Amino acid sequence: MDRHKHPHFNSAVHLLLLTIFTALQTVTWGAHAIESPSPKELLIGFKATSDPSISSFQPLLFDESGNYSLGFLRVDPTHLSLSVLHVPSSVPVWSANTTRLPIWTDPTQLSFNGSLVLSDSHTGVFWSTDTIGDRVWLSNTSNLIVQKLDGETVLWQSFDLPSDTLVENQNFTTAMALVSLNGLYSMRLGPDYVGLYAKFGTSGTDPGQIYLKHRALEAKADIVEGRPIYLVLKSDGYLGMFQTGSTIPVDVQSFNTFQQNVSGIRRVRLEPDGNLKGYYWTGSSWVLDYQAISEPCELPSSCGSYGLCNPGKECSCLENRTVHGSSGCGLPENRVSGDFCGAYENRFRVLRRSGVELPFKELMGYRKMASIEMCEGACEGNCTCWGVVYSNSSGFCYMLDYPVQTLVAVGDETKTGYFKVREGVGKKKVDAWLGLGLGLFFGAVLVFAGVLGLGWYKLRNRGVKGYVEEEGVVGIGPYKDLGAASFRSIELCER
Ligand SMILES: *[C@@H]1O[C@H](CO)[C@@H](O)[C@H](O)[C@H]1NC(C)=O
Ligand SMILES: *[C@@H]1O[C@H](CO)[C@@H](O)[C@H](O)[C@H]1NC(C)=O
Ligand SMILES: *[C@@H]1O[C@H](CO)[C@@H](O)[C@H](O)[C@H]1NC(C)=O
Ligand SMILES: *[C@@H]1O[C@H](CO)[C@@H](O)[C@H](O)[C@H]1NC(C)=O
Ligand SMILES: *[C@@H]1O[C@H](CO)[C@@H](O)[C@H](O)[C@H]1NC(C)=O
Ligand SMILES: *[C@@H]1O[C@H](CO)[C@@H](O)[C@H](O)[C@H]1NC(C)=O
Ligand SMILES: *[C@@H]1O[C@H](CO)[C@@H](O)[C@H](O)[C@H]1NC(C)=O
Ligand SMILES: *[C@@H]1O[C@H](CO)[C@@H](O)[C@H](O)[C@H]1NC(C)=O
Ligand SMILES: *[C@@H]1O[C@H](CO)[C@@H](O)[C@H](O)[C@H]1NC(C)=O
Repeated sequence: MDRHKHPHFNSAVHLLLLTIFTALQTVTWGAHAIESPSPKELLIGFKATSDPSISSFQPLLFDESGNYSLGFLRVDPTHLSLSVLHVPSSVPVWSANTTRLPIWTDPTQLSFNGSLVLSDSHTGVFWSTDTIGDRVWLSNTSNLIVQKLDGETVLWQSFDLPSDTLVENQNFTTAMALVSLNGLYSMRLGPDYVGLYAKFGTSGTDPGQIYLKHRALEAKADIVEGRPIYLVLKSDGYLGMFQTGSTIPVDVQSFNTFQQNVSGIRRVRLEPDGNLKGYYWTGSSWVLDYQAISEPCELPSSCGSYGLCNPGKECSCLENRTVHGSSGCGLPENRVSGDFCGAYENRFRVLRRSGVELPFKELMGYRKMASIEMCEGACEGNCTCWGVVYSNSSGFCYMLDYPVQTLVAVGDETKTGYFKVREGVGKKKVDAWLGLGLGLFFGAVLVFAGVLGLGWYKLRNRGVKGYVEEEGVVGIGPYKDLGAASFRSIELCER
């Protein structure tokens, strides 16, 4: 680099760059302030960066009514998501499905160059619509649309990629999934039913265990085999199941306000507890008028892992000596994920409880066995099995291939459960890991020290003053952190 040969020229250039940088930043902020009232569309060249001083939502685009807005939404103190919000209630109705959440302090940029692109300086692009469009706009039904200027061709729309919410007249097809905010639950369509699925295990790409299955009742129209179904939330107050090519529903799940005239819009959401709920907007609040699961104990994990749900949703724990608290039955030795294969091979103790039943056993696979001993035995030596529930009267043996969740308390004491509780990884293994960790750590320290030493050596050769200045300069920007800046200096030295 030239700057190595001309240190004085270098700092002058740097000052100039800083001035330009600051000026540019003022310009972009100014532009942002001017256009922020209500941009109705984004055209090619649009760019906006996240402003860390905003505590909740940074709007970037509005629909014509102003009732919906696309922008950066704060999801926790450090992270944001690109979301469409129902403005009067601040309820998000859609979020971009990014593999990881962007952070506020490392400026996240939303830009439009034909594709709507979410990026930051560290990772580069982490979400994009991959389109070659001319404009982006938000419909008055909350649909985010990338279009050509002709106004006809829709290249991309958020309605095709729902998150956890469906709004009125949004089509939900067999190619889509609603996924709850915590990622545990999903809603999907089968050939003639709508299913809710729980993914308690971590492995595999399958949707997980089905816990609710609603088959089309076909009261008004029969299902024609081979034709896909789709689901629509109707303004009349029902979830209708249709088949492509017909406007007569094959199934109607009616809400409390069925065929009533509600003034506001409706939405359904797959909630973080696994329930599907319907709401309508009164103009000042959302009113609940539908729940797919009305009995709390029938939710897939109403009292958390190793919990016991007593009718009326009184939570206790499968294990008598643990008390159900705010964090459920948090058995301390239990990191509730994975299985008992590999590192956790046979590292469990057994917990038995009678008078328990699975909340959705009619949807679970079972094997008929002659005795409880056989049922337990089938689980004991199987490292993917977390437990079994056995019914002495029917001989049904239900196997849990996911971490133990909530069971339902029943009066029938012949229904018994056998559950594995994970115990810590063996001491020897811990020691081995600790040794490896320490080794890696000291190795890293050595390498770091080496790099620092090299950097220091080069700095001395060129005079330290210029670089202290440079660090200061880099550190001034509102988003930069000094640690990263120092690293950059070291990188410079190495070149
Ligand atoms: C838009 O920008 C992204 C990210 O920089 C890039 O991958 C993409 O090719 C660009 N698209 C067009 C049409 O220029
Ligand atoms: C939404 O826009 C459509 C036309 O684009 C219009 O017919 C409809 O009345 C609007 N809905 C509301 C609630 O404003
Ligand atoms: C988001 O993407 C992941 C991985 O591609 C997928 O498994 C998940 O279902 C998606 N979420 C939604 C809400 O579509
Ligand atoms: C939903 O599907 C129906 C029938 O296939 C179609 O007429 C309608 O335009 C679709 N609605 C949306 C918002 O895509
Ligand atoms: C529903 O409300 C609209 C406007 O408020 C009114 O015109 C219509 O007659 C009402 N329909 C029923 C069935 O009450
Ligand atoms: C926007 O919301 C207000 C208040 O709920 C409502 O009166 C109005 O009709 C809505 N406009 C549109 C276009 O949905
Ligand atoms: C746990 O409590 C239940 C009901 O209170 C009781 O039937 C059972 O015997 C207790 N189990 C143990 C191991 O104390
Ligand atoms: C289970 O059923 C067998 C016979 O079907 C009976 O002998 C046994 O006592 C029952 N055990 C319990 C705990 O009810
Ligand atoms: C082990 O358990 C899983 C369910 O957890 C089951 O699918 C599998 O068939 C079992 N394997 C054997 C050998 O029984």
